[in-house]
Amino acid sequence: MPTTFDSHSVDQTEQIAANLALNLRPGDCIALNGDLGAGKTQFVRGLVRAYGGHERAVSSPTFVLLNVYPTPRGPVFHLDAYRISGPADLEALGFEELLQQQGLVVVEWASRVQSLLPPATIHITLTPTSSNSRRIEIFRPD
Ligand SMILES: Nc1ncnc2c1ncn2[C@@H]1O[C@H](COP(=O)(O)OP(=O)(O)OP(=O)(O)O)[C@@H](O)[C@H]1O
Ligand SMILES: [Mg+2]
Repeated sequence: MPTTFDSHSVDQTEQIAANLALNLRPGDCIALNGDLGAGKTQFVRGLVRAYGGHERAVSSPTFVLLNVYPTPRGPVFHLDAYRISGPADLEALGFEELLQQQGLVVVEWASRVQSLLPPATIHITLTPTSSNSRRIEIFRPD
């Protein structure tokens, strides 16, 4: 069963991400899903801030496919699968190797590369419920 949170602001979304960050370990993978503007990148900002990184450096890596943010807890690898045509593109980018780096791997539009995601991936879905509100469902396999 997913755990559901209701966020009523960008700050709350970042705080929900920060709370999740308390329970993450090196090598974890997070899959983010939700439409354009749902708040996936805002969620990544909350993770990076909680890791002690520079959240202002966080932007949607839609054009470069991969952003890397160094943090005191290790690198955060931020990928965006929106413009790639499928799992093969992500493999070519070295996705499997990224998973071995003991960092945190976060993928926006992850449903497009579902077959590459490790079984232990934490799945998060963001759904707008009003202009400033989002439902955030976090599913963590046992
Ligand atoms: N409660 C909220 N949580 C997150 N974002 C919110 C919230 N309320 C309003 N917003 C706004 O929604 C937008 C979310 O943008 P963001 O770039 O995070 O979306 P995204 O899911 O990454 O989209 P894309 O698929 O285009 O990369 C921002 O403009 C933000 O200010
Ligand atoms: Mg984004």
